[in-house]
Amino acid sequence: MSASNLSVRCLAGALAATGLMAATAAQAGEVEVLHWWTSGGEAKAATALKGKLLALGHTWRDFAVAGGGGDSAMTVLKSRVVSGNAPAAAQIKGPSIQEWAREGVLANIDDVAKANQWDSLLPKTIADGLKYKGSYVAAPVNVHRVNWLWANPAVFQKAGVKVPTTWDEFFTAAEALKKAGVIPVAHGGQNWQDFTTFEAVALGVGGADFYKKALVQMDQGTLKSATMEKVLTTFKKVKDYTDRNAPGRDWNLATAMVINGQAGMQIMGDWAKGEFIAAGKTPGKDFVCAPAPGTGKAYTYNVDSFAMFKIKNDANVKAQKDLATAIMSPEFQEVFNLNKGSIPVRLNMDLAKFDDCAKQSSSDFVASSKSGTLLPSIAHGMAVPSAAEGAIKDAVSQFWNTDKMTAKEAMDRIASAAKQK
Ligand code: BGC
Repeated sequence: MSASNLSVRCLAGALAATGLMAATAAQAGEVEVLHWWTSGGEAKAATALKGKLLALGHTWRDFAVAGGGGDSAMTVLKSRVVSGNAPAAAQIKGPSIQEWAREGVLANIDDVAKANQWDSLLPKTIADGLKYKGSYVAAPVNVHRVNWLWANPAVFQKAGVKVPTTWDEFFTAAEALKKAGVIPVAHGGQNWQDFTTFEAVALGVGGADFYKKALVQMDQGTLKSATMEKVLTTFKKVKDYTDRNAPGRDWNLATAMVINGQAGMQIMGDWAKGEFIAAGKTPGKDFVCAPAPGTGKAYTYNVDSFAMFKIKNDANVKAQKDLATAIMSPEFQEVFNLNKGSIPVRLNMDLAKFDDCAKQSSSDFVASSKSGTLLPSIAHGMAVPSAAEGAIKDAVSQFWNTDKMTAKEAMDRIASAAKQK
């Protein structure tokens, strides 16, 4: 047993002894939780969730499926549900929540949501995404901002350049970093990582309206426009500044390259901050967060949530509802998000313990929701049905990985992938 498990159990034991334990032995149930939080920062955040449940006297059955972005986890989930053996809770987000709900396998958790006033504690757009036919079927843990650039300031100083705010500055900085003998851009090898960069370029080069039309509404004309061609050309140019070992590399190993100064920067959502923090690094000193070039006025969001599956045993249903209640509690939202790199999804939380990256994320979230530039991340399953999402991700990665493919050919492939139902 790890030291952290041990301390969580001791806490549960102490609460039981003082009679503070919420669930009596008769009510204690087990919750099996499917997630893909296996990197250093992610695992710390997952432990906070587990600790919450154990403190209530329930048992946590860990169903962790490694693989950033969750593609492997979703494949495993499908086979478990098809064989009639769904976990109590699974990390599912965006339109996939609706897809699972339509299958009739998700549980209605309106009683928990009503008792805890979720409607007044969540931004409406987010709450709507967690409901199926007006009833809550999922509980949200956070808001991740995806359009971030993470930089190592010591490496930038050595190269004599500043952290870029435009794509022109990005390539100037990348050249200088290369000359200084470091890998300019830390990148990894799954298609969701390629797409995380691609959507940042689409937003920075094309702007929020283009992003919406092309990637959220998947308008065929916009997907085949001159702007799309420019986006694709810029995106492909980023590859020149990545290293030969990028294919197959996990995102957190790419973050580690920025942490240890082997690379200068990484375009990644703020789960990357969880890695810097887990490595004992201080924001503003050891690492810098900046909006991805050209995207300072916009915000691509990614809300992690747990969909609750229909399960039978009464004690386990009680444990499942306790999990949903715990997820939205202010204490959990604070400790989880301090470790995860994200910000609380619950409104009006005190951010005193959060760092400047989180505070900027929070104020930019509010500002962008007012200016119409708050946008769902496609790379992270927040915008389009899963079939189209998978197909356009594959097309974008094919372009990234195929030297001979032109931007025009890629445009055609992406546009036809977007028609996937
Ligand atoms: C999830 C994050 C996770 C990241 C990398 C994203 O899709 O929303 O919670 O940390 O993938 O695994």
